[in-house]
Amino acid sequence: MKQVDIVALPGDGIGPEVTSVALDVLKTVCSKYDTELNVTELPFGGTCYEQYGDPVTDEIIDACKKSKVVLLGAVGGPQWDDLSAGKRPEAALLRLRKELGVFANLRPIKVHSALAGASTLKQEVIEGTDFLIVRELTGGVYFGQPRYTSEENGDPFSVDTMRYSRSEVQRVARVAFDAARLRGGRVCSVDKANVLESSRMWRKSIIEVAAEYPDVELSHMLVDNCAMQIIRDPKQFDVMVTGNLFGDILSDAASMLTGSLGMLPSASVGGENGLYEPVHGSAPDIAGKGVANPLAAVASAALLCRYSLQMEEAAQNIENAILKVLESGLRTADLYTKVPGTQLANTIEIAQHLLDLVSDNVVAE
Ligand code: IPM
Ligand code: MN
Repeated sequence: MKQVDIVALPGDGIGPEVTSVALDVLKTVCSKYDTELNVTELPFGGTCYEQYGDPVTDEIIDACKKSKVVLLGAVGGPQWDDLSAGKRPEAALLRLRKELGVFANLRPIKVHSALAGASTLKQEVIEGTDFLIVRELTGGVYFGQPRYTSEENGDPFSVDTMRYSRSEVQRVARVAFDAARLRGGRVCSVDKANVLESSRMWRKSIIEVAAEYPDVELSHMLVDNCAMQIIRDPKQFDVMVTGNLFGDILSDAASMLTGSLGMLPSASVGGENGLYEPVHGSAPDIAGKGVANPLAAVASAALLCRYSLQMEEAAQNIENAILKVLESGLRTADLYTKVPGTQLANTIEIAQHLLDLVSDNVVAE
């Protein structure tokens, strides 16, 4: 049996509940493909702060780097909101992304037909939507220096810096162009080049990379317009590539096409490491109640199979199981609307159904 080591960071809020489902599904699927998963679970975020006084430790970062494959739940919660910047759970996540060098964050936005009625948007607008957001993850205003708070004439002020270098833009651009080659062959780069210097650098750098990909069609869109286009006509997009902050905001907006933020997985890649996490946060309001939607975490586990383990069939096996669960009508509260054929389910019920499905091997469709 092939042995694979991964680190799991369940984190805070609903993180542990959804990660445990994802790990169960992952282990079951891997064993079918003669692969044994050795999971090291470590504290992260607020949970780690409670234990060590820091949201992450050097040892935990080292363990993640060594394993190369990390499955994360979620971080954050109101009890840690007043901590200083470096002690906040989110600081751990940013440090982990930076230290793993995972500069490209892939967020697939796919509307499952079973859920086309679950969105707040009109079914005919969203049905068939299938695009990929490639968000730059280790640069931009999230990391730019200087960054400080000071005071001038008794008026306090704060500074963040949005900085992009050509090489930072071009490496993430290549991830987007490569992805487009395997999809619809179109890349839309999103920036604010009518105002921001860093966006003009972004656009120029993207155009240079496009010359290496004559077979891929490149277009540009301003981020404010893009926010509107995602709602107006989401089917127009194939691959969207954008900076760290814009990608953060646009992907939350895009999640509502899929019915719930609880449906969106993500894969952060670049270099030799992979970090897999649902896009949703720690949802402290429903944490510990057993009602969280585990499907984004489970779909992130599928991406882990695809990108880090090179187990495409295992990935499809998991994705098919998700589809079947949705087709069965089972819905966690975030997706549930009282329509015939659907039934309210909790986290464990969804998990059990998924495990039954992956155990039966539903890969052949
Ligand atoms: C995300 C989250 C994070 C981000 C937070 C928790 C730091 O919103 O992954 O989208 O802003 O990147
Ligand atoms: Mn976000």
